[in-house]
This record gives sequence, structure tokens and C-alpha cells, in this order.
Amino acid sequence: MNLSTIFDSIITRAHNFGGIIMDKDIFENAKKWVLKAGKRIKEGMYQPMEIDTKSDPNDLVTSLDKDTEKYFNQKIKETYPHHKLFGEEGFGDEIKSLKGTIWIVDPIDGTTNFVHQGRNFCISVGIYKNGIGEIGIIYDVILEQLYVAKRNKGAYKNGKRLKKLREDLPKEEAILGINHFLLCQNRLVDYRATQDLVRKVRGVRSYGSAALQFAYVAEGVLDGYLALRLSPWDVAAGMILVNEVGGKTTNLFGESLDMLSKDSLLTSNGNIHVELIRQYE
Ligand code: IPD
Ligand code: CA
Ligand code: CA
Repeated sequence: MNLSTIFDSIITRAHNFGGIIMDKDIFENAKKWVLKAGKRIKEGMYQPMEIDTKSDPNDLVTSLDKDTEKYFNQKIKETYPHHKLFGEEGFGDEIKSLKGTIWIVDPIDGTTNFVHQGRNFCISVGIYKNGIGEIGIIYDVILEQLYVAKRNKGAYKNGKRLKKLREDLPKEEAILGINHFLLCQNRLVDYRATQDLVRKVRGVRSYGSAALQFAYVAEGVLDGYLALRLSPWDVAAGMILVNEVGGKTTNLFGESLDMLSKDSLLTSNGNIHVELIRQYE
């Protein structure tokens, strides 16, 4: 071994050691901030709030969505100035590449449920390092259900480890989360294929929060979740959770998701994943 190789190895070890310490610290902080953000939402949701629309009259955003994202931005920037925030409401950074450490945050996923029902919404935080999902946290604020996962360290719900998903579940026994737009005529897939699928499976649910449906797949209470067009912040945390229980996430054509743009989605496991993709061939 020459001098430069020895030097490189020392640097790498020092970096890895620092990385381990930093990861623990990031995970604990992320969890703490998610719980605090949940508390703020709970306290604020019965006070008067502003409700606006974004891309269309059904695309809602409230002052609490914005405040929550600003809260994460402030915490991340004061604690980890070199980290970036990729948030739905645009208070973070302009993200054009996945280089470095990026927090992909949906401050409230399921805003329509939040406004109309006051339930079935969550906070979703995925932390990626150079494009690799390291930490995923999804918090159902009302039910106080906290789902967390670290890459290669398993997924947990309120501290209890989630089991590996069944590999052999037949489609006929599956309960799927399906976004209703897949059942309407659309430009991406044949809606009749979805109608056919709905007839074949045991049941279909539509909860109105992408991140919660990911958490339900990881928990095994849904066997798959399909959607037509989701953004990186809808999927960032959930993908890590599902990975940790042996599941898989792709678009509806079986391709990997691009974490910088919108895509269709299929998250499920084992043989069902293959069967569901076949449905859209
Ligand atoms: C929405 C929810 C919904 C999904 C939409 C998302 P938002 O997120 O996850 O379930 O169908 O595509 O935009 O706007 O409530 O954060
Ligand atoms: Ca969302
Ligand atoms: Ca949102």
C-alpha cells in the first residue's frame, strides 16, 4: 500500500465514523421536528386559517401547510446549513440535482382531507444522500401514528418493528389503494385495465394521502398502492419504509422513479408487483 492509499483510507474511515454519528443525530432531530410540527398543526387546526387553491380549484393549500414547511426550513438551515430542503410549498431550495443531503418534505400530505375532514393527513419527510433514501418518516398527526425507517435498519410504527411483507399473496386476496383518476379516462394508462383490476382484487381503498397509503403498504394493511401522478414529496419517505419491509416501488411500467419529477406509482411487493405491472402492459 503506498502512502496516498493509506491516506485515502484514513480519510474514508474518519468520514464514515463522522457519518454514523451524524446519521443518528439527523434521525433523532428529524423525528423530534416531525413530532413538534404535528403538535403545531394540531394546535393550529381549530383556529381560523387561510385556505387557497394552487394549480386548480381542487388543489388546496392552507396557511398551516406553509407554516409547517417554513418550520422545517428554519430547523434544517440552522442545524445543518449544508443540507437542502425540497418542499412542496416552495420555501426550501430550488432542487435540480440529488447531490448532497436533501430533505424531501410534504408538510401536510392529504390537504383536502385536512380541510374537509380534519383527519387522514400526515407529515412526510424523506432524507436522501446523493439520491439514496436514508431516512423516512411519516406521521399521522391525529392518530399519533409515527412510522419511521432507516436504510437497512428496518421500519417501525410507534417503536414496534414492522414485519416483512408476504411474497406470495395472490391478487385475488389483495386490498389495494388506488387513486380514483386511474379509473377515469387518462393519457397514461388504459382506465379499463384499472377497472378490470378492481373486479379481480378483494377490495380497493382510496384514503386521499399518498404518504399514508405508503405507510399502510409497509404495515401490511394495504397490499399495494397505485397512483397516476405523484410528486417526489408524496413518495420520498414512503419508498424507504416500503423498502425496509421487502417491498418495491416503481412507476406503473416497472421503471424506477425519478426523484426530481412527477411520475405514476406502484408500491407493493413480491408477486403482486409483477402482476400489477402486467395489468398495464
Ligand atoms: C396529494 C395526496 C393525494 C394524491 C395527490 C397528492 P397533497 O397530496 O397525496 O392522495 O392523490 O396526488 O397531490 O396535495 O394533499 O399534499
Ligand atoms: Ca402530497
Ligand atoms: Ca402537501
